[in-house]
Amino acid sequence: MKVTVVGAGAVGASCAEYIAMKDFASEVVLIDIKEGFAEGKAMDLMQTASLMNFDTQITGVTNDYSKTANSDVAVITSGIPRKPGMTREELIGINAGIVKSVATSLIEQSPNVIIIVVSNPMDTMAYLAHKSIGIAKNRIIGMGGALDSARFKFRLAEALGCPQSDVDGMVIAGHSDTGMLPLTRLAVRNSVPVTAFLSEERLSEVAEATKVGGATLTKLLGTSAWYAPGAAVSSMVQAIACDTKKMFPCSALLDGEYGLTDISIGVPCIIGKNGIEKIVELELTDAEKAKFKESAAGVRAVNELL
Ligand code: NAI
Repeated sequence: MKVTVVGAGAVGASCAEYIAMKDFASEVVLIDIKEGFAEGKAMDLMQTASLMNFDTQITGVTNDYSKTANSDVAVITSGIPRKPGMTREELIGINAGIVKSVATSLIEQSPNVIIIVVSNPMDTMAYLAHKSIGIAKNRIIGMGGALDSARFKFRLAEALGCPQSDVDGMVIAGHSDTGMLPLTRLAVRNSVPVTAFLSEERLSEVAEATKVGGATLTKLLGTSAWYAPGAAVSSMVQAIACDTKKMFPCSALLDGEYGLTDISIGVPCIIGKNGIEKIVELELTDAEKAKFKESAAGVRAVNELL
């Protein structure tokens, strides 16, 4: 399994690190536009191999896509992150050009690659990747919901005062502060709906904290987060590499599912060796459907800026 990670910045390097530590890939190629940067990150990571017990070979290259040839999976993290007070949507001007050219270069070298798009505004960048290279829709996956759901579980466990491993929950719809839809109704603690433990008011606080999870970290860090984003991507790459058929909410190009077409937005997906192997259609309540529709309108408005 060969994985290319485009962008050796905070998220790209964290993603490469988690992939290596899980030791399921034979090779990770880190590629960046900044001269020597990916080489440096790769060398630093390789010097952790004997300490962390992994055999994954990590190499770094500056803008030489020939080194990415025949990748099974490629992750696009190249582009600028937001600064405190910025929305993800404000990044579109710079990131659209980067994502389009990167996706084109990747597919030239690896015609069968499965691409995971991370750069923001992610739903629009995933849509742009679909429109730019036109490969089968199961092979372009946007990462947002896996991260947002991890943040939701963190907030749920905090509110319940229990371990995160006891809770489950999912965030669907657009990957934006206003567009996210944490499904509080379906969240569980050891199979019991969390509504049995938390008041409606407390649950709506949990949902709100989840939605601004990225902005909260950006304010604290001065730039956007990297550990949880990197871990979320690595879990998705692992699901493809090991054909686990695990379910993650991912930004998928819809073709009638949830009543929508020609939009990439967060929905539960079964991930395996073919990328998105199935889009799961949840039975949403009328209120959830209305929020999903509103979120989709927000994503479409950003797509219009392309
Ligand atoms: P960063 O600034 O640390 O790293 C970005 C890297 O991309 C830099 O090293 C830069 O040199 C490189 N780059 C720029 N143009 C390039 C090109 N044409 N080819 C190759 N490399 C290029 O930024 P960070 O924190 O790693 O974030 C990366 C992106 O991921 C941002 O757009 C951010 O908003 C997004 N993000 C998305 C998340 C999600 O859930 N979808 C979560 C966290 C970040």
